[in-house]
Amino acid sequence: MASKPRVFVTRQIPEPGLNRIREYYEVDVWPEYTPPPYEVLLSKAKEYDALVTLLTDKIDCNLIEQSQPRLRIVAQYAVGYDNIDLDCATKHGVYVTNTPGVLTEAVADFTWGLILAVTRRIVEADQFVRSGEWYKTKTGWHPLMMLGFEVNGKTLGIIGMGRIGRAVAERAKGFKMRILYYDTRRLPEDVEKELNAEYVPLETLLKESDIVSIHVPLTEKTYHLIGEKELRMMKPTAYLVNTARGKVIDTNALVKALEEKWIAGAALDVFEEEPLPPDHPLTKFKNVVLAPHLGSATTETRTKMALLVADNLIAFYKGEVPPTLVNKDVVNVRKPGFH
Ligand code: GLV
Ligand code: GLV
Repeated sequence: MASKPRVFVTRQIPEPGLNRIREYYEVDVWPEYTPPPYEVLLSKAKEYDALVTLLTDKIDCNLIEQSQPRLRIVAQYAVGYDNIDLDCATKHGVYVTNTPGVLTEAVADFTWGLILAVTRRIVEADQFVRSGEWYKTKTGWHPLMMLGFEVNGKTLGIIGMGRIGRAVAERAKGFKMRILYYDTRRLPEDVEKELNAEYVPLETLLKESDIVSIHVPLTEKTYHLIGEKELRMMKPTAYLVNTARGKVIDTNALVKALEEKWIAGAALDVFEEEPLPPDHPLTKFKNVVLAPHLGSATTETRTKMALLVADNLIAFYKGEVPPTLVNKDVVNVRKPGFH
């Protein structure tokens, strides 16, 4: 190709990544804070050789079909890619890459932040101080003031033992917890030993855990994995934490569980509807901690994600298989590169 291939980036991402991409591509960035509307995305997909996408960009089969013959690679700025029709992309020889690994530690840290925030009532406590409620009690310290739930020595149930689930388990060592995990695949025995994690059926995990933390991708199989039946299995003293995908939990069932106190509380970074409307029933519970999908949101991690997106695009440009290619079978449909 004589001139540089063109890439459309659907949102401003950290500059170091864009600069690296610019060495090989002509880069256009969607200038607005909100996602490009579907029609815009559709027209861009036809005019560009590559797209850098976010979870909020719907890359469905219609878009992929209409993008042909030009679009060759969709480089997703996220570890998850449930917004992309992968089978359709593969069928049309469109490469799809993601950003695994670089955000593992940030998401695990944030998960732990949420676990401690909800069990030790940190958000509620902050509100108590700021609102003047504490001052009104005329009591600096009281043996029974705002008692929380201690995580030390308790049982942590991890649903989805991929990179992030394992990093969450690593951190639990400091809290001397018993760790149960459930996944579609069992970890090798030495890894289980290293993490001190015990493989159990989902039902056992739900019944025995004090904290249940979700780390599965969103797929047809994990959609509403946690519904009424599962929530009813949990202990009334247990907490549910979700930094994975909102749709893994049936939100209506969770609201019911909180209203009827089947569980002690929840900490949520992801929702079935994002952004969460301020009048959503979840916002009325004091024992629920809410965050606006911030799992990977550190300057360091978001920069690493942008650099990994660049690495994928550049490898593809050079005719190499991108380092974090998702749809690996696509190499049988079309060789990497802009031939
Ligand atoms: C964020 O949710 C991601 O998948 O990276
Ligand atoms: C993703 O990084 C995962 O935890 O599987």
